[in-house]
Amino acid sequence: MHVLNGILIVLMATLALGALFVLYCRWRYPEPHLNWSEIDIESIKFPADFLWGAATAAHQIEGGLHNNWSEFEDSRGLERSGEACDHWNRWQEDFEMLSELGLTTYRFSIEWSRLEPEAGEWDSEPLQAYSDMVDNLISRGIRPVVTLHHFSHPAWWEDRGGFAKKENLPHFVAYCERVFEALSDRVEVWCTINEPIVFSSMGYTLGQFPPGHRSIWQTLRTMRNLMRAHSELYVSLKSRKPDACIGMAKNVTLFDPLNRWSPVDWAVARLLEWLWSGAWLGGIRTGRMLGSRISGSKGSLDFIGLNYYTHFLTGLFMPTTGELSFAKRENEVLTEFGYPMYAEGFKRAIDLVSALDVPIEITENGVADSKDVLRPDHLRRHLWILSEAIGEGHDIKSFHHWSLMDNFEWAEGYSMRFGLYEVDFETQERTLRKSGELYRKIVKEHMKI
Ligand code: FCB
Repeated sequence: MHVLNGILIVLMATLALGALFVLYCRWRYPEPHLNWSEIDIESIKFPADFLWGAATAAHQIEGGLHNNWSEFEDSRGLERSGEACDHWNRWQEDFEMLSELGLTTYRFSIEWSRLEPEAGEWDSEPLQAYSDMVDNLISRGIRPVVTLHHFSHPAWWEDRGGFAKKENLPHFVAYCERVFEALSDRVEVWCTINEPIVFSSMGYTLGQFPPGHRSIWQTLRTMRNLMRAHSELYVSLKSRKPDACIGMAKNVTLFDPLNRWSPVDWAVARLLEWLWSGAWLGGIRTGRMLGSRISGSKGSLDFIGLNYYTHFLTGLFMPTTGELSFAKRENEVLTEFGYPMYAEGFKRAIDLVSALDVPIEITENGVADSKDVLRPDHLRRHLWILSEAIGEGHDIKSFHHWSLMDNFEWAEGYSMRFGLYEVDFETQERTLRKSGELYRKIVKEHMKI
């Protein structure tokens, strides 16, 4: 009898706690969905000094690279990046497209494997080319925003274990310092690392990015090392130029429970959101990450770069191999990438990074849409949300559309088309999409104020 009573009490207590947990989460983490047909998405307001831009990354556009990614493409039999957009030879024409859109900021990344193809062997020519790009942008009235690591690095460094090994970090820091020395007289805004959580989870948990490992322990170790690399860089670059503006590009994916009444779905959602965002934001705020003290990480941001794409609906059985099929709410549209368009989440992502109390740069936002049917609405909705957020007082400096042109989309190869310009990869011809025309119009209208 006693045992039965005991079991009953434990069961009831568990149910009561579960119910309280669900009620708390439902109150604390609302998931707004707007009725877009009732919203005038054309009514947007931006400050006169707001910067309008586009973003790209070296491995996705330059072509002709040999690095961790090209090796991974070969070893996994993935589509090869190959010539990509041949941007390395066509960058002057491509920058013309930035001007054609009327943009005032451009985010791009430096390819370390060009600068140091073998350990300790430096090639000065590519750095000169990047320097020429910076000059060219400035002469067009476009602010260069430089990313030092956007998923790719030299093959030799990968062979040594890349970011998974703490002892490799000095190579990375030395490369970044070299670039900073060469460009910081003209480049003011720097992203140290692009989406460290995407890099670590895709490369070490899901195995979809190089090095293709599937180990939670390696993921956690790599996460800490990425935070260490960022923090060391912050300290080093600021000591060289105190007024430089150093940040990182943080992907904020929101995790919402598939069933908002399920304590299990809520538990998975909260855990994933903590690993995805909480651990990083906490690392910057407190100087500690995943139980370790990270030297220099406290306050190591002059701005936070926000990359926002979607929310994931979580449950007990989540895909663990990165399949392109995700759950969606009834009222949501799936993008070609397989995840839902959820512009309302953009505001939540902005609120989340606002806790850092530094200015925000939107370093990426866009959609895979080869037929350009969703992109106009996608763009308008996200800009509407952005305009509302600014109206509420958020300090948001810029918007960089991902991407300027179609490019090599990592594990998905050339199948995902994110460009304002469509690229014909046979002829390398670029054509402005309707959504590109729309963006140009919006930029023009909002710069006159
Ligand atoms: C982001 C990456 C960027 C691009 C977009 C679609 O996660 O930073 O390089 O692939 O997704």
